[in-house]
Amino acid sequence: MTTLAIVGAGRGLGLSAARRFGREGFDVALISRHQEPIDELAADLTQQGITARGYTANVRDARSLISTLDRVAQELGPIEVLQYSPLPQKEFLRPVLETTVEDLLGAVEFSIYGPVAAVHQVLQGMRSLGRGSLLFVNGGSGARPNPNVAGTSIAFAGESAFARMLHDTIAEDNIRVRQLIIPGAIAPGHETHDPDKIADLLWQLHNEPGDFRVYVEPMPDA
Ligand SMILES: NC(=O)c1ccc[n+]([C@@H]2O[C@H](COP(=O)([O-])OP(=O)(O)OC[C@H]3O[C@@H](n4cnc5c(N)ncnc54)[C@H](OP(=O)(O)O)[C@@H]3O)[C@@H](O)[C@H]2O)c1
Repeated sequence: MTTLAIVGAGRGLGLSAARRFGREGFDVALISRHQEPIDELAADLTQQGITARGYTANVRDARSLISTLDRVAQELGPIEVLQYSPLPQKEFLRPVLETTVEDLLGAVEFSIYGPVAAVHQVLQGMRSLGRGSLLFVNGGSGARPNPNVAGTSIAFAGESAFARMLHDTIAEDNIRVRQLIIPGAIAPGHETHDPDKIADLLWQLHNEPGDFRVYVEPMPDA
């Protein structure tokens, strides 16, 4: 049995992805900053017959993220799929002229240092398995800078560059690197933005080779 580690797992896309991969036999590690909500999430999944466990880490603290991912692999088994999808903080979502160096520092820790730390921690395990997927989830500002959300626009550009370079570098190791762009809000019941439908797309990205960047719906001029 192998493991899906969801870095940034809540009751939105996190829960849907956990259910989707869990249904396919994956054990699921739910990672976020607060233990109680992820323990409740894990308990709900366990009731549905999925092996799931909650772990705390703050993606802005690379050491906490690395040691948590290490624990996940020891307790649940090798991480075959890493989903990087923490929900950005509101100070990363300010207009460009109001975005300070301090705001950017957090956004860079969140979207660049966090992914780099997580990837380095899980890669060796994926190589030993002989397969794996690194799935990055971003809003529309990950594809096109939006002056109303400057911090994520700037930091997602760095995350996208890192992930795209990985896509080109480790494809031959049978490790897929994909980025899913969700323009607009996730909305239960929506034709394209329903979290269960987005989770189906993540499952597809894990299973099928393809372009680095995939959109939940097309973005003009992206
Ligand atoms: N929600 C939307 O409308 C929307 C729109 C476009 C794109 N997206 C993208 O879709 C993905 C999932 O979004 P979602 O709203 O459905 O999220 P979700 O799975 O419901 O929850 C994400 C979790 O990230 C955790 N998180 C936030 N900051 C963190 C940090 N510093 N370290 C560790 N964990 C952290 C939060 O838990 P804690 O507070 O306990 O840490 C939160 O529960 C994200 O990548 C988001 O950018 C969402």
